[in-house]
Formats: sequence, C-alpha cells, structure tokens
Amino acid sequence: MTQAEQDLLTLNHRLLESIASADWKTYQELCDPSLTCFEPEARGQLVQGLAFHHFYFRLGAAAGAQATTMASPHVRLMGDVAVVSYVRLNQRQLPDGTAVTKAFEETRVWHKIGGKWKHVHFHRSPLPG
Ligand code: GLY
Repeated sequence: MTQAEQDLLTLNHRLLESIASADWKTYQELCDPSLTCFEPEARGQLVQGLAFHHFYFRLGAAAGAQATTMASPHVRLMGDVAVVSYVRLNQRQLPDGTAVTKAFEETRVWHKIGGKWKHVHFHRSPLPG
C-alpha cells in the first residue's frame, strides 16, 4: 500500500470516528457540502447535502463503549479521486452491559479539492446478523 493510500485510510477512519463521537465540526470539515449518499436511514433515497446527517449528530454520541473497524479495506486512487471500500464493524456496548457488533458494506468516495481531500459520496448497506 502506498503512503497516499494509507493516508486516505487514516482520513476515512477519522471520518468514522467523528460519526461515532458525534463530532460535527470534524465531519463537516472532511465532507464537501454537496455530499451525496445512499444509506439505510435514507430508505432507498439518494440524499444530497449535509443537513440530513446533521440530524443524527444533534442526537449526540451513544452512551457506553464503542469501537469502529474498517475490515479488509481497499483503496483505488485515480488522480484526484479515491474510492475506499471495506466492511465497517461497529462494536457497541448496550445499556445492560452486553456488547453487539453490526456490520455494513461501505464505499466512500473522496475528491481532492483545492489540495484537500473531501468526502463527496458514500453508499452503506447493512449485512445480516
Ligand atoms: N451517516 C453519515 C455517514 O455515514 O457519513
């Protein structure tokens, strides 16, 4: 893996951590305002912009321990555009103290704009179990 690809994985993981910790400032900094996505919360609709995502950040971070892992990550770098694909594992502690893991197929597209990588599109699909 090249240094550029490793840097993109680090950036992508930072984005996922900002989601887990409800850190809107970091999420907004890493995303282009025109971000598009398909995700389960959007019920099959293509969502454009950041307002839809801001709703969840305003709810705050879930209580209890949590960890986010990008399993088997792959980076396809095409000049100023990169596609990062992996299975996202979300480990969460429930209020009763037990732990659950949820898995999602995730693809995130990054675009270097003005010398900075910006997140411009993602697609997340839940895996059963
Ligand atoms: N739901 C926000 C994100 O996955 O980027």
